[in-house]
Amino acid sequence: MIDLKGLKLNDGNTMPQLGLGLYKVSTQAELTQVVKTAWEQGYRLFDSAQMYQNEDMFGLAAQELNLPREEYFLTTKIAEENQGYDNTLRSFEKSLKDLQVDYVDMLMVHWPLHQHFFETWKAFEYLKEQGVVKSIGVSNYGVIHLQYLATKANIMPAVDQVENHPFLTQDGLLEFNKTQGIITQAWAPLGRARALDEPILVELAQKYHKSAAQIVLRWHWQRGTAIIPKSVHAARIIENAAIFDFELAPVDMQKITDLNTFTRISQEPEQVYELGHQYPHH
Ligand SMILES: NC(=O)c1ccc[n+]([C@@H]2O[C@H](COP(=O)([O-])OP(=O)(O)OC[C@H]3O[C@@H](n4cnc5c(N)ncnc54)[C@H](OP(=O)(O)O)[C@@H]3O)[C@@H](O)[C@H]2O)c1
Repeated sequence: MIDLKGLKLNDGNTMPQLGLGLYKVSTQAELTQVVKTAWEQGYRLFDSAQMYQNEDMFGLAAQELNLPREEYFLTTKIAEENQGYDNTLRSFEKSLKDLQVDYVDMLMVHWPLHQHFFETWKAFEYLKEQGVVKSIGVSNYGVIHLQYLATKANIMPAVDQVENHPFLTQDGLLEFNKTQGIITQAWAPLGRARALDEPILVELAQKYHKSAAQIVLRWHWQRGTAIIPKSVHAARIIENAAIFDFELAPVDMQKITDLNTFTRISQEPEQVYELGHQYPHH
């Protein structure tokens, strides 16, 4: 059974520690099916973004499945091209419409951009004051971005969603976020499943009678990190939530942490911050 224990956010709200990622879930039929499977399994957090171009699909799926609005936690993110004060407000209106809701639980700045850094956040604070966004957060912010934001912010982010997996453990950032009362949420928590055949993970999977994916997700869970694994396969959606009947020993936690190779799957946040947009990568 899924552990619905929520993480307490610095604004008093609560966020489920486990949720479903929706990046690259790109057809209506697929999206409705994965949300249905996840819901039945007990997932209560869904992670979308303007960039994923599936907010409208989620809106339709939630209607079709009759999901009670107060029972799920919905995250979306403002895309780079929609940053700035007015653009954030305008594009958020459209997100609400597409999602067919009158509030989101979490709105994130998808990537830090120096061009609109403070105005975008000002719009976020306004949306929170208006009650149409329950909590405000950021994504892909490093220590330096958070420290800079703190120089002018009235409200600090509740969550920082960053790339985080055994090959990019982000120990320093996690530690900093903890000291600041910011919850770290791991994107690509499975490292996009690119290295689940890593011998240490296979060894631990055998030891605990679990899959390598479950070992990795349990490692995040025990570190107190929020996780949003994505899958379009029902069996994997179920597997990724079956991580509550075992506990990794400290020595095994450390073995996974030691896999860190500082390897990024995606963009380097500092480069996006400087450029003002994402850049081609593998
Ligand atoms: N803020 C950001 O900038 C940002 C960036 C990227 C992602 N995200 C969010 O984070 C979520 C998760 O990240 P992600 O989708 O990039 O990567 P991920 O969750 O680490 O990995 C997803 C990949 O792993 C496969 N997979 C899932 N469960 C598996 C299992 N149990 N065994 C083997 N393979 C498995 C999936 O394949 P199948 O689907 O074919 O099963 C998919 O290819 C996204 O969906 C999105 O919501 C945010």
